[in-house]
Amino acid sequence: MAFDIPQTSKAAVLVAPGKFEIREFPIPPVGDDEMLVKVEGCGVCGTDGHEYKRDPFGLCPVVLGHEGSGMIVKLGKNITRDSAGLPVKEGDRIVTCVIPCGHCSACMNTPARTNLCNSCGVYGLFPDDDTHLNGYYAEYLKIRPNSTFFNVTGLTLDQRMLIEPAAVAIHAVERAKTTNLLNFNTKVVVQGCGPIGLMVMAVLRTLGIDRIIAVDGNDNRLALAKEMGASEVFNFTKFAKFDDMLKEIVAATDDLGAGFVFQCTGVPAAASNAWKMVRRGGGLCEVGFFLPMGTCSIDPHYDICNKEITAVGSWVYSPQDYPIAFAFLRRAAGIGLPMEKLVTHHFPLEKIGEALETNVQMKGIKVAVVVE
Ligand SMILES: NC(=O)c1ccc[n+]([C@@H]2O[C@H](COP(=O)([O-])OP(=O)(O)OC[C@H]3O[C@@H](n4cnc5c(N)ncnc54)[C@H](O)[C@@H]3O)[C@@H](O)[C@H]2O)c1
Ligand SMILES: [Zn+2]
Ligand SMILES: [Zn+2]
Repeated sequence: MAFDIPQTSKAAVLVAPGKFEIREFPIPPVGDDEMLVKVEGCGVCGTDGHEYKRDPFGLCPVVLGHEGSGMIVKLGKNITRDSAGLPVKEGDRIVTCVIPCGHCSACMNTPARTNLCNSCGVYGLFPDDDTHLNGYYAEYLKIRPNSTFFNVTGLTLDQRMLIEPAAVAIHAVERAKTTNLLNFNTKVVVQGCGPIGLMVMAVLRTLGIDRIIAVDGNDNRLALAKEMGASEVFNFTKFAKFDDMLKEIVAATDDLGAGFVFQCTGVPAAASNAWKMVRRGGGLCEVGFFLPMGTCSIDPHYDICNKEITAVGSWVYSPQDYPIAFAFLRRAAGIGLPMEKLVTHHFPLEKIGEALETNVQMKGIKVAVVVE
């Protein structure tokens, strides 16, 4: 099946913090080891929100958008299978994943943990170049040689746009599992009920863990947390001080504290409080500080040493996490978790500024840009 490919593609270029311009770029030729993808939609990530506000990675001008999916309209003849070995053809829907460089010191020393690559590539977070079509906030995306991608034909667009944040949650829970502290009866606290925290809850539920305490300051998000499987919710803004909430959380965890805490906010005070909720012998996974949002203080005696906490950090995901994320999404639907409620807004490409504002102001949960 051959697709009509136009001469040019629109792309939303973030030219400076707070300022997008829709520009038109020529669609470059597609080599034998490359693909051209017609973008169908892309979720807005908190990282995009930070780039939009203050360009912390110094990428401007840049075509953002890394939680996207689209249809292969031109497939280089050397590409026959995706990164999981499934056959691909033109007309198939795909998502892309991180591209480990394979030769930096991290890739050489911890080859199984490809997410730790010092210069991991991600479509939607590449600096601008002559191709320009490097992110999903555009009509077309050009996939270069040696990329990682998965054939996700058959999933709805909303499902496909949730794969990337699902992979973040899968990776966090996989990291947590390495502590051997997650069991059917572990009482877990998930701090932060944005897309990431909600996904973590959903992953825990699909694993059979059903004693989940969700903490956030937003009642709408806490209501959705309940639907995602939280057994109890706490709105921290309703307590005069953290210690008052802590007492109730300890009471709700058999007077022990949480067996495991997932810290899913980018807020230093929350990162500090997370340790206080962990029981003696419990565990903690720090997921929220993807960006350097500041430091926080913990008491090494009370918070770590005396309690013998096992802590893990979680950094994005590896391509290996994607097939697990697909299985998770199937199972989440199977046990009736309302995953479709996570995508609350759809904006056309022309309204990308509005989409980013909606994300930054934390209206809704997952905001998406859809490309007609
Ligand atoms: N580790 C990774 O690889 C990775 C990947 C993606 C995102 N992240 C990070 O994870 C975090 C969560 O992502 P998101 O998209 O869900 O963001 P989000 O901003 O939508 O959600 C964060 C939530 O935390 C809540 N919150 C703020 N202060 C709190 C407090 N003191 N106690 C409890 N809750 C509090 C907010 O109300 C909000 O609902 C972000 O900081 C993001 O940068 C990490
Ligand atoms: Zn993201
Ligand atoms: Zn590397």
